[in-house]
Amino acid sequence: MIGDKKVLFSGMQATGSLTLGNYLGALKNWVALSEEYECFYSVVDLHSITVRQDPAELRKKARNLLMLYIAAGIDPEKNCLYYQSHASAHCELAWILDCFTYMGELNRMTQFKDKSAKHADNINAGLFTYPVLMAADILLYQADVVPVGKDQLQHLELTRDIANRFNSIYGDVFTIPEPYLGKAGAKIMSLQDPSKKMSKSDENPNASIYLTDDKDTIIRKFKRAVTDSDSAIRYDVENKPGVSNLIEIYGAVTNKSFEEVEKEFEGKGYGDFKLAVGEAVADILEPLHVRFAELSADKAYIDKIIKENGEKADYYSKKTLRKVQKKVGFPERIR
Ligand code: TRP
Repeated sequence: MIGDKKVLFSGMQATGSLTLGNYLGALKNWVALSEEYECFYSVVDLHSITVRQDPAELRKKARNLLMLYIAAGIDPEKNCLYYQSHASAHCELAWILDCFTYMGELNRMTQFKDKSAKHADNINAGLFTYPVLMAADILLYQADVVPVGKDQLQHLELTRDIANRFNSIYGDVFTIPEPYLGKAGAKIMSLQDPSKKMSKSDENPNASIYLTDDKDTIIRKFKRAVTDSDSAIRYDVENKPGVSNLIEIYGAVTNKSFEEVEKEFEGKGYGDFKLAVGEAVADILEPLHVRFAELSADKAYIDKIIKENGEKADYYSKKTLRKVQKKVGFPERIR
C-alpha cells in the first residue's frame, strides 16, 4: 500500500513499435487501472538488452514508449512512468534474488526456451535470468497486483515462489503479488495470419497496426487483412479466424458486443466491414496521435517527467532494497 491505495506494477519492452494489440490488450487497461491503484509503469530497458539492440534506436524507442504511455491517457503526475535503468535497485535486487532462484526453475520457463531457439547465436545468461529481474521489478515496489498477458503468467508465478521462499526465511519482507485478472484486455491477432498474436516484432508490417500509423495506412492494412472464403460477418474463431479478429477489434474500439457487430453488418460485404473497422481504429488513435505530437515537441516537459518519476521510482525501490540487504546480512551503511 502507498497511502490508501494498492500498488500496481507493470512494464513493457521498448523494442519494436507498439501495436493496436498492445493498446487494446494492455495499455487501454493500464489507463483505466491508473485511477484506482498507485501505479508504477516501467519502460523495461534492462530487459531489452537480453537481445542485441542498436543503442541509438533503443534510446529513441524507450522515449517514444514513455510518451505513448502518457499519450494513451496515463497521468504522469499521479503515476510513476519511468525507465527501469534509472532505478539501480532493480539490478541490485535481481542479483540477490538470483541466489534464491534455482536453475531448474529457470530452465522450465517457456519464454526462455522460445527465445533461445529464436536467438540461438546469443543465448546469454541475461536471457536465462530475465524472469528474476522481472521478479525484482515487481517485488521492489511491494506490488499487490500485476496486469500481465498470458505469456507472462509463468514469470509471475515464479515471482511469487521466489517471494514466498524469501519471506519464509527472513520474515514478511515482500508483498506477494497477484496477477490482475479483472476485465481481460482484447486478444488481437495478426492481420496476415490470424492464428498468431499481433506482435510488435512481426517482420511483415502489414500484419500489425502500429499506434503511430496514419489513417491511410490503417485503412490500407485493414483492406489487405486476411479473411475467409464465405462472405458472412460472423464471429467464429474456429472456422472464420480472420473475420473474428476484425470483429474483436471493432468490438473493442467501439465497445460493442460481437452480436451487436454481427447485427450492424448483416448483409454487408467484407469491403464495407473492413473500411468501417479501419475508420473506427483511426478514430480512436487520432487523439493519441495529437497528444503524442504535442509531447514530442515539448522536450522540457518530458525531461521533467523522466527526472521526477525516475527519482520517485528510485525512492520506493531503494526502500525495499535496503530492507532486503539488511535481512541477508550486508553491513549497514555508515552515514
Ligand atoms: N517481461 C514483460 C514482457 O515482455 C515485461 C516486464 C518486465 C514486466 N518486467 C515486468 C511485466 C514486471 C510485468 C511486471 O511483457
